[in-house]
Amino acid sequence: MTLQTTAQVANHQEPTLERPAATQPSKPVLIRLEHLSKTYAEAGQARAVLDELNREFYTGEFVCLLGKSGSGKSTLLNLISGIDAPSSGDVTIYDGAQAVTITALSEHERTIFRRNHIGIVFQFFNLIPTLTVLENVTLPLELAGKHQQMRRHAVELLERVGLADRINTYPDKLSGGEQQRVAIARALAHDPLLVLADEPTGNLDDETGETVLKLLLELTRDAGKTLFMATHAPDVAEQADRVLHLVHGQLVNDQLSTAQG
Ligand SMILES: Nc1ncnc2c1ncn2[C@@H]1O[C@H](COP(=O)(O)OP(=O)(O)OP(=O)(O)O)[C@@H](O)[C@H]1O
Ligand SMILES: [Mg+2]
Repeated sequence: MTLQTTAQVANHQEPTLERPAATQPSKPVLIRLEHLSKTYAEAGQARAVLDELNREFYTGEFVCLLGKSGSGKSTLLNLISGIDAPSSGDVTIYDGAQAVTITALSEHERTIFRRNHIGIVFQFFNLIPTLTVLENVTLPLELAGKHQQMRRHAVELLERVGLADRINTYPDKLSGGEQQRVAIARALAHDPLLVLADEPTGNLDDETGETVLKLLLELTRDAGKTLFMATHAPDVAEQADRVLHLVHGQLVNDQLSTAQG
């Protein structure tokens, strides 16, 4: 690999190539958490749900986040997506050569950033009932101003999740597994940097959950996306590149850093 000087990097025409050096040089950092804390006040006492998290996650990784109910998994995903703001600390996402500290943005700016760069799969699908399957998938493209690619790309994604013949159907006519497959297509439609999934199989039976998980992994991996998934299912962890556990506000059992010292 050829090393580039700072000036060469600054003048580079393709901003996706260079990012800050990570502890793992072959994988660029996509997300950096620094002193990230979320505290809630309860009965006059401060309760830290996330306590000074410091981590880096890399482009193309599948990160699996395990932890008991109430351990803070959704809280962490919501801080990474900018849906929620931390009590202190920062989340930085590297968009090509540009570092975007999303915790320094206003709520409106975070919404714009999320629309452009993040895809989210929720436990309860969250499809818009008044829009057809196709319209649900083209909506993020429309919001991100990507009109050109819209319909063709959305139809391609719906073909990949096996729903090409249902594009004009409304979500209430679909099974849970089918709705989640639409949600996966929607999460990838605008070509996000990062896909966040919060218990995407939590509301599905085992067999349907397995199909949905397989599709989510295939589609994110084929597109080289980073997938950050909170789950209760330990078997999902077997397929992940890194497994983290949230315990008492801390991220522990980081298998990647343990394995690599
Ligand atoms: N608005 C709030 N006010 C006070 N406490 C809150 C608030 N939102 C979340 N919490 C608390 O933060 C903790 C973490 O919640 P979170 O939803 O992140 O857990 P989780 O790991 O996603 O759980 P589950 O597996 O059940 O989805 C919980 O104890 C919850 O009660
Ligand atoms: Mg949760």
